[in-house]
Amino acid sequence: MYFAVIGNHPHIALKELALAEVFQIEKRTDHLFTFSCKRPEKLPQIASLVKWGVIVEVFKAERYFNGKRLLWTADSSLGINWKKKYHFKRFKKVDLLHTDREIKEKGVEILPFPRMKGFVWVVQGYQNIPLYECIDFEKPARSMQVGMMPAKLTHTLINLALQEVFLKDAKGCPVIRDPFCGTGTTWFLVNSFWYDFVGSDLKIWLAEKNAQRWKSRPEFHDQLFDFFEQDISKPLERTTHTEALLQRSTAIVTEGRLWPVIKQTTTIEQLLEYQRWVKNLYVQFLQTVADFFRWNHSQLPVLVFTIPVYTTLNAQQLTIEKEVTALATKLGWNVEALEEAYQREGQKVARKIMMLRSL
Ligand SMILES: C[S@@+](CC[C@H](N)C(=O)[O-])C[C@H]1O[C@@H](n2cnc3c(N)ncnc32)[C@H](O)[C@@H]1O
Repeated sequence: MYFAVIGNHPHIALKELALAEVFQIEKRTDHLFTFSCKRPEKLPQIASLVKWGVIVEVFKAERYFNGKRLLWTADSSLGINWKKKYHFKRFKKVDLLHTDREIKEKGVEILPFPRMKGFVWVVQGYQNIPLYECIDFEKPARSMQVGMMPAKLTHTLINLALQEVFLKDAKGCPVIRDPFCGTGTTWFLVNSFWYDFVGSDLKIWLAEKNAQRWKSRPEFHDQLFDFFEQDISKPLERTTHTEALLQRSTAIVTEGRLWPVIKQTTTIEQLLEYQRWVKNLYVQFLQTVADFFRWNHSQLPVLVFTIPVYTTLNAQQLTIEKEVTALATKLGWNVEALEEAYQREGQKVARKIMMLRSL
């Protein structure tokens, strides 16, 4: 049996966990799940997991030490016993939601709870904070406790899209496309996971500038990547940039557009106006995508993107989800809006994840 420690978005985490084909999921505490799993090799790819591992009989735990010399456990009798028995150098204490670099690199972590007689919970992997850090290099420092944003959210969106692509009869290795690619967060992640990428934006100089930096990083892989300038409200042409989208399985993954920063002084009228702008842009975006694939006799791609949810508006005032859902359904997608919105502490805009599958 496996376990996972997750952050503050359990519904999104469980959705993403489907990539590892999990079943018999049980919630143990707010941040702790246990499950069985058909594809455990996928667990290191899941962004929502702070850490994960196996529940094993105590006498089998040694198999997971891999020569590591540090031990963390809140169970002092187990600690004293194991230090002597397995020659650990010392103990260290970290929080359940914390990824401790020293433990991660040199230690063995045994979860402190819940207790199951004769079994221990051995951590086998941790979230990839160094990857998120190097991608978010232009963004202000954020809490390391549960990983960084938006690279981490983008990573989740990629996994949600890949599940859908793999469920279908994928035409070879999929291409991931972000039509609002901005600084290139989606590209960097897609590239580091060895997938091909085609991005566009109204302005691509930011992505081009960051590409120079990314190429010098050890995580950089020699995969297809292509950026081009494109206003998503204009028709998408069949060109050398877009040909791969028709030849291969395509997943469109994008954080999309949030529009102006919401301040303390932003009024309800302004929010409603921002919401109209975003809605109009998304309507054009969906229409452009549908037209391009239809005109070229291709199946509609999977789309995974976020829409802003302004937390100071009430349910009647929030209209993007309804309008996007109605249009996408009319255009031929099956729409799922994940019920849990992604929100960081103190932010006035949450993001809802929309998943559009072709029928
Ligand atoms: C929130 S940012 C996306 C940030 C991106 N995820 C990143 O990693 O930097 C939104 C992006 O949408 C682009 N954008 C806005 N309107 C657009 C349009 N009509 N067509 C294409 N891109 C547009 C902006 O230039 C901006 O880069």
